[in-house]
Amino acid sequence: MDKKEYINRLDEQKKLQKMMNTDKYLLNFHLIPPSGWLNDPNGLCEFKGINHIYYQYTPFDATWGMKLWGHYTTADWITYKEYEPFIFSDIPEDQDGVYSGSAFIKDDKIYFYYTGNVKHIDKDYDYIVAGREQNTILITSNDGFTYKDKKVLFKNIDYPSDMSCHVRDPQIFEKNNFYYMVLGARDLKDVGCVLIYQSKDLITWNYHMRIVPEKKFGYMWECPNLIEIDNKMFLICCPQGVEQEGINYANIYQCGYFPIDLDLENKKYSLGKFKELDRGFDIYAPQTFLDENNRRIIIGWMGLPDAEYTNPTVKNGWQHALTMPRELIVKNNQLYQIPLVEFKNLRSKINKELNCNKENVELDFNFSNCKNLEILLRNEIKLIYKDNIFTLDLKECGYGRDKRSVYLTSLKELQIFLDNSSIEIFINSGEEVFTSRCYSKDLKTDLKISGEYELKDFSWYELKKIEINK
Ligand code: FRU
Repeated sequence: MDKKEYINRLDEQKKLQKMMNTDKYLLNFHLIPPSGWLNDPNGLCEFKGINHIYYQYTPFDATWGMKLWGHYTTADWITYKEYEPFIFSDIPEDQDGVYSGSAFIKDDKIYFYYTGNVKHIDKDYDYIVAGREQNTILITSNDGFTYKDKKVLFKNIDYPSDMSCHVRDPQIFEKNNFYYMVLGARDLKDVGCVLIYQSKDLITWNYHMRIVPEKKFGYMWECPNLIEIDNKMFLICCPQGVEQEGINYANIYQCGYFPIDLDLENKKYSLGKFKELDRGFDIYAPQTFLDENNRRIIIGWMGLPDAEYTNPTVKNGWQHALTMPRELIVKNNQLYQIPLVEFKNLRSKINKELNCNKENVELDFNFSNCKNLEILLRNEIKLIYKDNIFTLDLKECGYGRDKRSVYLTSLKELQIFLDNSSIEIFINSGEEVFTSRCYSKDLKTDLKISGEYELKDFSWYELKKIEINK
């Protein structure tokens, strides 16, 4: 879909938006598509005080379809501006979708790298080893809103010869005077891995090395982010094809990270144990970036591909959302996620009593000696802590998705954000997180709590809506 087609079809958007306006599950403090479908966040960056949030966007269809890069900006994470799509599909190398990618800022310019998706239809293809192109494409922009040319950097033929057609989702970082590009990949033996390219000028790239686990961990790794925080490196990625192990890896596809020791100069590495970033039902393809205050911010897609349930918002013309933005920090050699401090600006007055009956709220619990616990929200969502296992049980409001669990050494803090159709739970200051969509009949919080614990402190706040202007 090029810009002309998009403009010609804007009436379809108006129709969808009319349906959306009747939906009680629209979100108040999360970004959703202006209409239709949204998936991965893309090109996240802060440029001259403005945070740019691009995303995988199918404007006129709520159930997947041709992908463009939609576009929001914000300076304060509370007030947003919506723009027309930033990248359209308008060259042969991205004719079947402007797939995911990222941004890198250098010398007052933003370099955007993305995957141009092409699907051949002249024969009966499997689209794994044949019939698909995933081209790596570069555009540069002086403002985040405009660009001139698309430059095709790689076609499939340029990737190592043992790769399948699935090589995508470029991310860039700089280290020791070189630039590196990380690409998610599936090789011809169905082993998920990442490829690393090296460059001196951000334009000419040479294959440098790859990161493959010692023992196969899924057949494809999507959306890699190789990041460094406090001198420690982490490879965030989304492995597909990992078997469930007890309460671990319970979703269809995974979203997590490997701690990694990486010697880029000598092409040596050692991967630590994969840890899930989030234990909820709706988390995938997170992307991180350093803002101008040097915070490592992470935003995920609050959804999952190939989901085995029907999202009730589809009939109202839209589907999916982005997670709340969070700051990533390192504690005990692990990644912790903390809601951006700016979210405190959404709070109304502080309340201390345990009866909370508002709809969109933040609930902050501080426990000591918590042996077991049961919290009931919206008359059906249960949070249970028993024998060191913390469980989120969505019951009916999960639309067929019921329980997800994690092991905790202790439960000390719970910070819960309830939006009209989502719940985000931050446990022990971001040590574990559960992100899920939920569709309750009654949206009032109706908090009930029981168990063996001491409540050292409790507060709740009604949350305001974020503002989105056109
Ligand atoms: C992850 C993903 C990416 C791809 C994009 C297409 O959700 O499959 O690998 O680039 O979505 O929309």
